Amino acid sequence: MSEARVDLLLTGIGELVTHDPAHGAPSGLVRDAALLVADGRVAWAGSRLGLPRQLGDVETIDCGGRAVIPGFVDAHTHLVFGGHRADDFARRLHGASYAQVLAAGGGIHASVAATRLAATVDEPGLSLLDQSLARARRMVAFGTTTVEVKSGYGLDTAGERRMLEVASELPRHAGLDVVATFLGAHVVPASHRADRDGYLALLENEMLPACAPLARYCDVFCEDGAFSVDEARRVLVAGKRHGLAPRIHANQLGASGGARLAAEVGAVSADHLDHVDDGDIAALRAAGTVAVLLPGAALSMRTPPPPARRLWDAGLPVALATDCNPGTSYVESMQLVIALAVLELGLEPEEALWSATRGGALALELADRGWLGAGALADLVILDAESHLHLSYRPGGNLAWKVLKRGRLVYG
Ligand code: NIG
Ligand code: FE
Repeated sequence: MSEARVDLLLTGIGELVTHDPAHGAPSGLVRDAALLVADGRVAWAGSRLGLPRQLGDVETIDCGGRAVIPGFVDAHTHLVFGGHRADDFARRLHGASYAQVLAAGGGIHASVAATRLAATVDEPGLSLLDQSLARARRMVAFGTTTVEVKSGYGLDTAGERRMLEVASELPRHAGLDVVATFLGAHVVPASHRADRDGYLALLENEMLPACAPLARYCDVFCEDGAFSVDEARRVLVAGKRHGLAPRIHANQLGASGGARLAAEVGAVSADHLDHVDDGDIAALRAAGTVAVLLPGAALSMRTPPPPARRLWDAGLPVALATDCNPGTSYVESMQLVIALAVLELGLEPEEALWSATRGGALALELADRGWLGAGALADLVILDAESHLHLSYRPGGNLAWKVLKRGRLVYG
C-alpha cells in the first residue's frame, strides 16, 4: 500500500468489480471486499480479510453489502446543446427518415440554431451552460464520472469555440471529468450549402486553429448526407496537424466507408458501426481502434442494434456510450445503455459493465480509470443493489446509491 495518508475507507462491499484480470476476466470480482482511498486514488482494494490494520480514525462508508463498480466512462456524447428536437422525433415516429428531416432543414440544423441562440442567453436555467449542466448533473447522478463532449452545433468559429468553452466549465460545476472533441465537421451548415469546399477550407484554416487548444480529439460525421470518406479524411488529417487525434462517426446509417477510414488514419475510436462487414472488423482490429457502440441511438431511431457480439468475439476492444444528443439519442444514463447492451445487443452483463467503464477509458486513452485497484482514480459507484447484475435485471431506474469522484462524494 502507498505511503499517502488514507482519507476514506469503504467497508461492507458485498461485491467489488475491480476489472483486474488477476481476479478473473473481465470483472475481477472480489466478494466481501474493502477499499481504501488516499489523495483521490485507490490506495488498496481487496478482500476485507486482507485489509491493512492500524488505519486509525479514518472516515468510513459502510456499504452494507452493496456492490461497488468503477464510475462510468461515457466516451461519446453531444451533451452541450440548446433546446430539444421532440418535433423531429414525432416526425420520425410517423414515417419521416433522419435524412429527410435533416435535408428539410431540421435535424442538426435545428439544433445549430437553438444552440447559437442559447449561447446569447444569460438567464439562469436557459443559458447554454445551464442547459448543458443540467444534463451533466443527471449523468453524474446515474454514475458517470468521466464524459467525452463534442462540439458540432456551432458550425462557425465562434459557435464551436463557445461549445468547447462550455464543456470546459462542466467539471467545476458538475464534478465529473470532461474530454473535449472538436466536431466542426458534423454537417455542412446552411450558410455553405452551395459551397462545401468553402466550408472545409474555413474549418481547416480558421475553425481548427481557434478550437484545437480547447480539445483533445477531432471527430467527423462520415455518412451519406454529412461528409464523404474523402472529405472526412481531409478533416481528420487537418485535425492531426493541429495536435488532435482522430475519432469517427462511422457506418451508422449505412456502409459509409467510415470504418475503413478509421483504420487507415489510425483513429482512436470508430463509433456507431451499425453497418460493418468482416473486412471492416479486421481492419479496425489491426489498427487497434476501439469500437464505441451506441445502443441508445439504435433504440431511438428504431433501427437494429449494433453488432456488439460480433465485435467483441472478433477481439475488438468495445466501449459503450450514451451518444447523448437532441436528435438520435436523448439518453443520459449509462445504466440504461448497459441494460440495452445486455438485453438487445447480446453482451454478457460482465462484458457490458467492462465496456461502459474500462472500454470507455480505452476509447479516451485514460489508463487511470475504469478499474479499481491500487493507483486507479477513486471514481466509483456504490449501487443500491447487491450485484452489478441488477443493472440489466432492473432497467429504467437509477441504481446509484452514492457516486464518488476522486474519493469525493458527488451524488447520494
Ligand atoms: O451520433 N451522427 C451524428 N451525431 C449524432 C446525431 C446528432 C444529431 O442528430 O443532432 C449521433 O447520432
Ligand atoms: Fe454522435
